[in-house]
Amino acid sequence: MQHVDLLITHAGQLLTLNGPASARCGEEMNDLGLIDGGAAAIHEGKIVAVGPTVELKKQYSAEQHIDAEGRLVMPGFVDPHTHLVFAGTREHEMARKAAGESYLDILKSGGGINATVRATRAADADLLFDLGMERLDLMAMHGTTTVEIKSGYGLAPDAEEKMLRVINHLAVDHPLDIVPTFLGAHIVPFDMERREYTQWLQQEALPRFRPLAQFCDVFCEEEAFTLEEMVHILQTARELGYGLKAHVGQFHDLGAAGAAAVLGAVSVEHLDHVSQKDIEKLKRAGTIAVLLPGASFFTGGKSYPDARKLIENGVPLALATDFNPGSCPGFSMQMMIALACIEMKMTAAQAICAATINAAWSIGLGEQVGSLKAGKQADVILLNIETPEQLPYYFGGNLVATVIKNGKVIYEA
Ligand code: NIG
Ligand code: FE
Repeated sequence: MQHVDLLITHAGQLLTLNGPASARCGEEMNDLGLIDGGAAAIHEGKIVAVGPTVELKKQYSAEQHIDAEGRLVMPGFVDPHTHLVFAGTREHEMARKAAGESYLDILKSGGGINATVRATRAADADLLFDLGMERLDLMAMHGTTTVEIKSGYGLAPDAEEKMLRVINHLAVDHPLDIVPTFLGAHIVPFDMERREYTQWLQQEALPRFRPLAQFCDVFCEEEAFTLEEMVHILQTARELGYGLKAHVGQFHDLGAAGAAAVLGAVSVEHLDHVSQKDIEKLKRAGTIAVLLPGASFFTGGKSYPDARKLIENGVPLALATDFNPGSCPGFSMQMMIALACIEMKMTAAQAICAATINAAWSIGLGEQVGSLKAGKQADVILLNIETPEQLPYYFGGNLVATVIKNGKVIYEA
């Protein structure tokens, strides 16, 4: 008998998400690596083994024992696209949108992202840190165990540095794993010339912030950065060793998805509008499409990404909340799975794959998190449901019973 720290037994179904060691595409996205009556052995924060309860009980004795009592057991959600650090809220924009203004109209009028930039610049680092801790706690309660966080509400030297330092401080102090991304190229700030700002980004900001961020992201859209600007910024970022990401096709197809893929982007995000030609470029490059149905929903629900077409064309999909004060104030990956199934016609299995292992690959953590495999981090959630199909079915609430991060229980309902 081998002694371990923790044994989770009697899952109704245990979703291991085991499969190829890369982002899953096509039919692979429907394979949840399901074990009926499954169990997981955990030691020193890592998964030691998964298998049927009867077998693991014969092989392992444990310090602590959690009986899942028939619940669904699966890897913690990975949220690979958030703007979680910000001050101020924008609920007043809802009435403007209800009266007919669009997200881009509000941005053009000096509100939107501009409003959050003003509030975030005015907030001190301690306030941003406290708000970040509270939001991460909420995400953890809803089953998220790894989170990517972008800067991009500073858009000036000190304010971007303040945001990135807060994100890095959160990574040290919060039990969730956090991946920092530099999004200085979010919009051109209201107090700078376009040329002057893009020059600052390329010549000063990107080299200076490299130690504070793993990825560089660019928002390519009308009212944000042009295709040409995006290409230049991502080229510079690539030379400096950043991983590349881009917000593309949120409201208009500017051809950015294909261009980012050709530059070697790990992922492109949103894709409510994308051409067949660009879908083929994504497939060829192995770029992951991170879909953000919460943003499509909250900005009007008129144009969701065509998830089925992307899957049929062999593009690996991930799901994220895009949590931010303007286009998606929702932080629940469970809700994103429901939207993916209801609005984008994904199967529950595809959505779960997109919210775990594929999300992990999209932020460079596919070897560490996102599936329950021996040697990986023991990030495990127990849900008060019996089958994967019940996850999108009981939408809108919180189905989480227990959250385990690196082998430790960090939340119990
Ligand atoms: O991903 N599109 C740009 N950035 C965010 C929204 C940011 C905001 O509105 O504050 C997004 O939707
Ligand atoms: Fe975003």
